[in-house]
Amino acid sequence: MKDDAIQVGLLGLGTVGSGVAQALQTKAASIARRVGRPVVLRRALVRDLARERVVPRTLLTGDPAEILEDPTIDIVVELLGGEEPAYQYMLAALDHGKLVVTANKEVMAKHGPEVLARAAARGLDVAFEASVGGGIPVIGPFRLDLLANDIQEVTAIINGTTNYILTQMARGGVGYSEALRDAQALGYAEPDPRNDVEGIDAAYKLTILATLAFHARVRPEDVYVEGITRLAAADFRYAHELGYAIKLLAIARQTTRGIELRVHPAFLASTDMLASVDGVYNAVSVEGDLVGRILFYGRGAGAGPTASAVVADVIDLAQRLQAGGGRAPVLPALDTARRLLPISEVWTRYYLRLVVVDRPGVIAQITKVLGDHEISLASVIQKETVEVAGAGEVAHAEIVLMTHRARESAVQQAVREIAALPVVAQVGSVIRVES
Ligand SMILES: NC(=O)c1ccc[n+]([C@@H]2O[C@H](COP(=O)([O-])OP(=O)(O)OC[C@H]3O[C@@H](n4cnc5c(N)ncnc54)[C@H](OP(=O)(O)O)[C@@H]3O)[C@@H](O)[C@H]2O)c1
Repeated sequence: MKDDAIQVGLLGLGTVGSGVAQALQTKAASIARRVGRPVVLRRALVRDLARERVVPRTLLTGDPAEILEDPTIDIVVELLGGEEPAYQYMLAALDHGKLVVTANKEVMAKHGPEVLARAAARGLDVAFEASVGGGIPVIGPFRLDLLANDIQEVTAIINGTTNYILTQMARGGVGYSEALRDAQALGYAEPDPRNDVEGIDAAYKLTILATLAFHARVRPEDVYVEGITRLAAADFRYAHELGYAIKLLAIARQTTRGIELRVHPAFLASTDMLASVDGVYNAVSVEGDLVGRILFYGRGAGAGPTASAVVADVIDLAQRLQAGGGRAPVLPALDTARRLLPISEVWTRYYLRLVVVDRPGVIAQITKVLGDHEISLASVIQKETVEVAGAGEVAHAEIVLMTHRARESAVQQAVREIAALPVVAQVGSVIRVES
């Protein structure tokens, strides 16, 4: 074994950075055996130099140049989060001839192809296993094991915060706000949870997965995004009665008309494998023409699982360095001509929850509007009396409709017309059904 160590510079020493630094220290002997050379942490960039850290104070710096421009550092591990300055630091690391590892979904979703092209142009590589699914191996399989497949579909639960909140709403019968407060108290949701609960984080991850799955140029703005904030306890009650779970799904699907890309809450039959993915767990289901359907499941966040993916990438790159540069990075040719389907052209089934005046003939008015837009009803399932503020003596009822497959634009237009009917007090929810 060579004595001269492979040197690692860490950008960020927060939740993940600390997990990575600890793993590099505690597993130093086994990592050195796997690589054939020691792999050591040389320096770590932080903002607050005074705070107690998991590494000796002498390794800390507040100056990024001390990592990005240090000729002795071989591998830069970016764990800052956010688009900037992380993106510029990754490019600077490549420009200084360093291999890069990142867990940054935002940078890889927005700029992944550019970052990888910059690396390939310099005979370097960027590894990003931890950017999707934390410790779950999913980037590696797409970059290698699934390459022989034409991928038809990726359906994923890839945000632990929202999955925890939805699981609490389903199990505890609690509303969204209470479930969010509970998640924040346990550290599963950020004080500002918007990126998670609005579906933005999941959209970044879906962008990365869809780019890899379809070898197509996909951008975050191509993904239709709807978060979980408008879901009500009643939706979970009805879903349960009807044999469904409600999950925030990230879907990338190849259809004959184009690629669907969407993140939104969805009804999933309780028999579906993804329906039982609960709490902070993540799962990614992939369907390929040769392999059929496969499922990746595990912890999508946290210091340990994310460090597992980051350190594996460090070891992989270190092994390639040790082998004298290793295999040349392959830059996949991205198909820019693949048609991405707007949400208005998606076909699926729908659950509608409405609050209506409780009188004969109301359902006939609603089904007429649906019929006018060629939306056929699978069932009208429930009817409960509900209180409507300011409605006086007029009795109201909640009804739940399930449609057959229909086109999104037709459903949205029909919902607008239904909302305008004098007998309809409120359109409670419109949720897509994906089973
Ligand atoms: N947390 C997870 O479970 C998880 C899972 C998968 C992927 N990820 C990804 O991993 C990355 C890191 O996440 P994290 O949860 O570890 O974040 P974090 O706890 O907020 O840590 C960020 C670290 O970066 C440092 N930092 C941030 N901006 C900086 C700047 N401009 N200059 C210098 N230092 C800066 C911070 O310094 P101070 O400590 O001085 O504030 C801190 O050490 C993100 O891309 C995230 O999306 C996280």
